[in-house]
Amino acid sequence: MADYDYDVLVIGAGPGGYVAAIRAAQLGLKTACVESRETLGGTCLNVGCIPSKAMLHASEYFDAAANGAMAKMGIKVTPELDLEAMHGQRRDAVKQLTGGIEFLFKKNKVEWLKGHAAFAGPDSVTVGDRTVRAKNIVIATGSSVTPLPGVEIDQKVVVDSTGALELGAVPGHMVVIGGGVIGLELGSVWRRLGAKVTCVEFLDQILPGFDGEVRKESNKIFKKQGIEFRLGTKVTGIANDGTKATLTVEPAAGGEASTIEADAVLVSIGRRPNTDGLNLQAAGLQVNNRGQIEIGHDFRTSVPTIWAIGDVVPGPMLAHKAEDEGIAVAENIAGHTGIVNHDVIPSVVYTWPEIAGVGLTEELARERGEVKVGKFPMLANSRAKTNHEPDGFVKIIADAKTDRVVGVWAIASVAGTMIAQAGQAMEFGATSEDIAYTCHAHPTHSEAIKEAAMAVQGKPIHM
Ligand code: FAD
Ligand code: NAI
Repeated sequence: MADYDYDVLVIGAGPGGYVAAIRAAQLGLKTACVESRETLGGTCLNVGCIPSKAMLHASEYFDAAANGAMAKMGIKVTPELDLEAMHGQRRDAVKQLTGGIEFLFKKNKVEWLKGHAAFAGPDSVTVGDRTVRAKNIVIATGSSVTPLPGVEIDQKVVVDSTGALELGAVPGHMVVIGGGVIGLELGSVWRRLGAKVTCVEFLDQILPGFDGEVRKESNKIFKKQGIEFRLGTKVTGIANDGTKATLTVEPAAGGEASTIEADAVLVSIGRRPNTDGLNLQAAGLQVNNRGQIEIGHDFRTSVPTIWAIGDVVPGPMLAHKAEDEGIAVAENIAGHTGIVNHDVIPSVVYTWPEIAGVGLTEELARERGEVKVGKFPMLANSRAKTNHEPDGFVKIIADAKTDRVVGVWAIASVAGTMIAQAGQAMEFGATSEDIAYTCHAHPTHSEAIKEAAMAVQGKPIHM
């Protein structure tokens, strides 16, 4: 240890990095974490998962009051939007949670090295004017917004997700470029608060990577909520006069161009790994053609003492995936066996209703072999019906021969919570019969999972 300052140096304090640092310290390793932001928690806590959910949650209440959903239940109100107060509660949530990580660092004796980290060699890193040496280095530098070529983000009219969380007024017309998770979540926030929202998506369907039927049904639900879609359309240019923007769009397959006027434009066409300024060459590392750092199953890079996790490595860019990798990498460094089952990582879109899935899409499952599929509509679920939440369904995909569940998809108000049981069932190798014969509390939305499993078996009761 004499030559080394730390057993483990983690670069980046997002959900991957801060969790890795805490677990490494818990395992008795001398640990530091470098973070250049003013606060800990990375993208997720500062400008991602947490502030977006604060705005989604608050805007759901506003919408329920404004669109008559509350009146339907006998509560008559005329809502008035205090956007500054809404932003205030968002900022409070972020402050409390990022402060919480600082507390956990102190409690677990993780040292926070404030500043930007760059490799000086395979076991050394500069942070400001200091060079530190560590036996193990974990790269957890996360990701940033993918820019749209030729389009400048001014965070006033043309914004990325960070700017879209902080708009000072409800735009008259917001154009969202990209019908992925960010576009649909943040587009929903501003639609509920009163904006007209148009989503321009390059592909012929929203939510790439999700189950085909789920993508189609979600599209229908968002249309019903008033979001307009221009699918199979690409943006070829944006003229921004400082107060509004004119987008030039044309069919993705080529064809006649047209224009769309907007008061705000959200660019949400994906995110890319953060490796700029890390001086990876000094460590003897390279990135792949997608800018990611390649790792083995144990999260080790091609340099044995350097590890990488989270958005900077291949796989879905999700906070819970980064967190689980953070725990596993620390356990591997400590000589234990840290494993993440990348086949069972849930995905949740926190719109209304929520859209969630774990495992294979029906399309992928069918490519791999014969499957049985069971579906159950939320309309037939007593709790959803009572709560006036008729949209959505649960779908279970099981192997035709073994009955083992290979994928579960749900559109429901609490799909994000429901999908956890599906993930757990899959981790335990459950069959659809196992789920169908598990007693579920009544009346809960989760009964729709049981009924979908009964549908795989033959017939559900309530349909
Ligand atoms: P990050 O959270 O990106 O953290 C990396 C940290 O490293 C950053 O703080 C950065 O400042 C720091 N850093 C980078 N380079 C250096 C350096 N050289 N020196 C020092 N520090 C450095 N995921 C979900 O699962 N659920 C959600 O609801 C969700 N919502 C999202 C909403 C939005 C608007 C966005 C943008 C993302 C959302 N995500 C969500 C994705 C989630 O935020 C990321 O998957 C997650 O934060 C990745 O964690 P990470 O630790 O790999 O990296
Ligand atoms: P995304 O990859 O989810 O969606 C981007 C969309 O933009 C795709 O549908 C793509 O086809 C489209 N697109 C790409 N180029 C385009 C172009 N030039 N014109 C029009 N459309 C174009 O990326 P997004 O929404 O930016 O999110 C980034 C990451 O953040 C995602 O990987 C996601 O996992 C993560 N995230 C997760 C959340 C969650 O778990 N609830 C919430 C928000 C973000």
